Amino acid sequence: CGVIGYTGKGEAIDFLLYGLQTLEYRGYDSAGVAVLSPDDNLHLVKVAGRVAALKERCDAANLVGTTGIGHTRWATHGAPTDRNAHPHTSCDGRIAVVHNGIIENYETLRRQLMAEGHSFKSDTDTEVVAHLIEDAWRGPARGDLASAVRYACDRLEGSWALGVVCADCPGEVVVTRKASPLVVASTKDGAYAASDVMPLAKATSHCLQLDDYDIATLHEDGTIDIVDREGNAVEHPKPLDIDWDASAATLGGYSDFMAKEIAEQPAAISRLLKDRLGKHGVELDELSMSNDDLAAIDRVYMVACGTSYHVSLIARELVQDWAKIPVFCEYASELNYKEPLVTDHTLCVIITQSGETADTLTAARRMKALGCKVFAITNVLGSSAARESDGTMYIQAGPEVCVASTKAYTAQMVASALLALRLALANGSMDEDEVRGHFASLEQVPGLMEEVISRRWQDKQAARVFRNAKSALFLGRGVNSTTAYEGALKLKEISYLHAEAYPAGEMKHGPIALLEPGFPVVAIVPADHVHDKTVSNIEESIARGATVVAVATDGDERVAKLCENVLWIPPCPEEWIVPLVAVVHLQLLARYVARARGCDVDKPRNLAKSVTVE
Ligand code: G6P
Repeated sequence: CGVIGYTGKGEAIDFLLYGLQTLEYRGYDSAGVAVLSPDDNLHLVKVAGRVAALKERCDAANLVGTTGIGHTRWATHGAPTDRNAHPHTSCDGRIAVVHNGIIENYETLRRQLMAEGHSFKSDTDTEVVAHLIEDAWRGPARGDLASAVRYACDRLEGSWALGVVCADCPGEVVVTRKASPLVVASTKDGAYAASDVMPLAKATSHCLQLDDYDIATLHEDGTIDIVDREGNAVEHPKPLDIDWDASAATLGGYSDFMAKEIAEQPAAISRLLKDRLGKHGVELDELSMSNDDLAAIDRVYMVACGTSYHVSLIARELVQDWAKIPVFCEYASELNYKEPLVTDHTLCVIITQSGETADTLTAARRMKALGCKVFAITNVLGSSAARESDGTMYIQAGPEVCVASTKAYTAQMVASALLALRLALANGSMDEDEVRGHFASLEQVPGLMEEVISRRWQDKQAARVFRNAKSALFLGRGVNSTTAYEGALKLKEISYLHAEAYPAGEMKHGPIALLEPGFPVVAIVPADHVHDKTVSNIEESIARGATVVAVATDGDERVAKLCENVLWIPPCPEEWIVPLVAVVHLQLLARYVARARGCDVDKPRNLAKSVTVE
């Protein structure tokens, strides 16, 4: 979910709607705002659906006022209806609350509040917060909104980023957080709060990150007071520079963010590689570890979710091959409920584009508590992952808005390759010349990707194969079994077409039963040491009537003869470079299939880009 707040000189609704549009990738099944009118009443507009629908309603409602909060929702408790959309209000309707996170003890609190006479209007966990604040406001907090929020939070279990306004506190927005992201900014035109820095980039180049339990009061004159959970004043933390400019999150002539972000991959990778090759091979000072400590690492845990998890699968191959260190890849949500086998020299690498995925953060905290050094690979400056890790490597891909990850996937993969090279150099598994050789291969990636992007007509053509399909199978071997997983995930996410991926050699042990005439099989079959084996799997598929779309290397006549649809990639300098190049075709293919099926590629149903609940 995305939370936004503003109080200042301008009309609140303008910033709230702008901010919600920017935060919409965090969830978009319902949205709402509360604006404090000049006659000190709260006006709420809520709608099931997108921010665009909310805007229409707000235009009609003509909301006037310079203080307000807003929310865009990814439903956890309660269906995505108008009624369950945030903000939620107290019984008297004079306090409104927006929330990102989960109140784990809401059932107990709700029962207690109902017994005390509170009546509830929604099925959400959030509504209890509005009622708790109302109780405290009338009771111990005696009309002080920040104190009322503090008393209420003392009774909460779970995670929250909260924005609160009260009709009796004009020119005030109170915000607080625990384990959910929230930033605030103080400017001469007003004070701002948001779930991430992007909406703030338009107004300022600096923001403040709140610590867990800190409560900030935003004032109309742009000032912000912060108190801790005991109510003691807290000094403002060191401001964080916002290095993304607001235009980076606009379409810039593209029809959708996915198209834009696919096209940005070559530039993102060039940026990431810049100045990385130093006197002693790859420079990775962000690791904040001495050479001796790096050399001592005897085990690596890679922890991630979704697309970032696929990055870890490739990273595992590189770290094992180059640095000869065993690697365990874990879905964060799984690792959180098992006992990791940690040694005295285990490094934990978390891979997370947003840096805010709750499962990944929980896993990182756990690994840290077990004594591991935690290193984050992330895209978002100042994210929780960056703040809580011992070292952070920023992939510098710029804001990724499309829910389905593209440029962050490939940039994270390049970052992992740099990490693998650094580890190999530190423990002597590789010498400087070898490192330079691999680095030179990485430097070719932007050009190779450009070439694939210029061939996107091939993907458009191949998308026709999926026109009447109900399901698809993706096959690949070695590092490209992961390319297959990622290709299938992209297709599923944005086109709602069922797809699954298998290492090509496994097809005969089960999935082959799916094949029937016209069934689409996407086979990644580059010129590599397993080429002939994968060609055999293509033959087996064709023999059963499947329609094979191959991803193959220029000049591969065998594949050209076998398959009508080939997505051609230029020759790559090393086999491990292929996943970075081949996946661009699969991103493009998924996009064309989704568009042909009339899907919104940037905002697929049910998903959110940043899942800040476990
Ligand atoms: C969500 C998104 C996925 C993403 C995953 C991990 O589920 O829908 O696209 O890969 O979170 O996100 P992260 O920000 O941790 O990389």
